[in-house]
Amino acid sequence: MSNYAQELRATAQAMVAPGKGILAMDESNGTCNKRFDKLGIPTTEDRRRAYRELILTTPNLSEFISGAILYDETIRQSSQTGVPFTQIMQQAGIIIGIKVDGGAKDLAGCPGEKVTEGLDELGSRIAEYYKMGARFAKWRAVITIGEGIPSRTCIEANAHALARYAVLCQEGGLVPIVEPEVLIDGDHTIELCYEVTDQTLQAVFTQLRLHKVAFDQMILKPSMVIAGLNCSTPSTVDQVADQTIECLLNNVPASVPGVAFLSGGQTNEQSSAHLNTMNARYGDRLPWRVTFSYARAIQQSALEYWRGNDANTQAAQQLLYHRAKLNSAASVGKYSPDMEKTPVLV
Ligand code: 13P
Repeated sequence: MSNYAQELRATAQAMVAPGKGILAMDESNGTCNKRFDKLGIPTTEDRRRAYRELILTTPNLSEFISGAILYDETIRQSSQTGVPFTQIMQQAGIIIGIKVDGGAKDLAGCPGEKVTEGLDELGSRIAEYYKMGARFAKWRAVITIGEGIPSRTCIEANAHALARYAVLCQEGGLVPIVEPEVLIDGDHTIELCYEVTDQTLQAVFTQLRLHKVAFDQMILKPSMVIAGLNCSTPSTVDQVADQTIECLLNNVPASVPGVAFLSGGQTNEQSSAHLNTMNARYGDRLPWRVTFSYARAIQQSALEYWRGNDANTQAAQQLLYHRAKLNSAASVGKYSPDMEKTPVLV
């Protein structure tokens, strides 16, 4: 058992406290730059810093956000006036999280598939992040649905890496967010997505058990069960909610404190509606809290408004706050589409 067991349990519970979710802002420099580029924002360290400052200094964000996941560059940065981001988060009551994976790379021998790298020296990196104030971590594995894929090889390789990562985190005092993402890209049906998600979660929990990961000291971050973006029969909100919950109930041990979804390319409205329906229909019968750990579905409207211009910061913060609020409502089954009206911006 980890020396940190009690602390890890408390952190995991706090991450999924009722009405709260996790804000993913851990885009690697590559991904962040791609999103900046699309909006004509200079892809410089200073603009990435300014954008992350905008997010972390959003007034009252901790009403809805329990923790935020940072990237390595971000956890070392400070505000314009020199206050470390870690200090800003601690003062705001937002738990510090850190992405520790090295990204999804081509999986040798398996064309079109990826495996997430980053296990080398992971123990010492975790120790450094803990000292910097981090209390949870994230590792994202990617499973692609396509012609003849995913292969068993890809699912098992990713599940194994997730388990190695998770147990290292628990030994070092960080709650692992275990993130197996079945990509929404493609024309697959919701039935096929169910099958692949089911196989993936089965493999992941088998490996977690084998590596002695404590289920009560981790958070699962899955994708929802949903038809591919190019599927000719898009899923309904009820289908996504029903199939996702069924798949989770069949695979996720009751001792896991929480399930916090990624948005994965769904629209803002879909991400909120799906989460809401799961909680409204099943919330009182589920063994774990079901909430959000969104990046795009919380950030995108703020980023598009800001566009690299500091004069837009305050209004962008209001948009970010608004999405956090709506997703918080969805995490307790109290969201409705008429809450979508854009707030009056300053
Ligand atoms: P999205 O919500 O944009 O899918 O991002 C979540 C995340 O952390 C991806 O790893």
